[in-house]
Amino acid sequence: MQQSVIRIGAIAVSLFLAACGGSESTSVASEDTAPASERVAAQSAPATPQADDISTVDGTALADFTGDAAAGERAFMQCRTCHVMDPGVNRMGPSLAGIIGRKAGSVDGFNYSPAMAESEITWTPEKLYQFLENPRRVVPGNRMAFAGVRNDQERANLIAYLKDAQR
Ligand code: HEC
Repeated sequence: MQQSVIRIGAIAVSLFLAACGGSESTSVASEDTAPASERVAAQSAPATPQADDISTVDGTALADFTGDAAAGERAFMQCRTCHVMDPGVNRMGPSLAGIIGRKAGSVDGFNYSPAMAESEITWTPEKLYQFLENPRRVVPGNRMAFAGVRNDQERANLIAYLKDAQR
């Protein structure tokens, strides 16, 4: 189990590096890969916002969009490898049950990075909208091997789905 988790993590990090045109090869797994991905992020990502700052890189706000929960459920396919909405079910990532309104890093039994655990973030819809645009910018050093969702409407859809799924 642990082995396969590490392998999936290494693949995800390699994909991220490939997507960014990085030439570094990542044959080492687990913790050793984190600094490499962070280095890439540090070069390309703007400054880290404060916990209660919801400004985005592209200047849009969640309020500019009407989220479509059904489209969001389809978009959630890209999260489902690592997250499920069932309470208490942690995969590679923590359960996202009740995520809206929850404090970051607070799911029992999930081994968060110190960066996520100490972020002081509360997951409001607006903060999720900002985080999902560029997870490494918003929580530098986090262990979510996912580049983010650049499409604004798709992020709004995802958040509409997350809201619906926790009712
Ligand atoms: C490759 C696996 C992976 C994918 C894909 C992924 N995540 Fe994550 N996610 C993680 C991990 C691991 C963490 C914990 C990060 C940490 O502790 O630094 C996390 C953390 C989070 C958190 C913070 C949770 C908390 O309890 O504070 C949110 C919100 C989140 N992910 C949403 C998403 C959404 C929405 C998607 C899809 C658009 C997604 N993630 C895709 C692995 C993933």
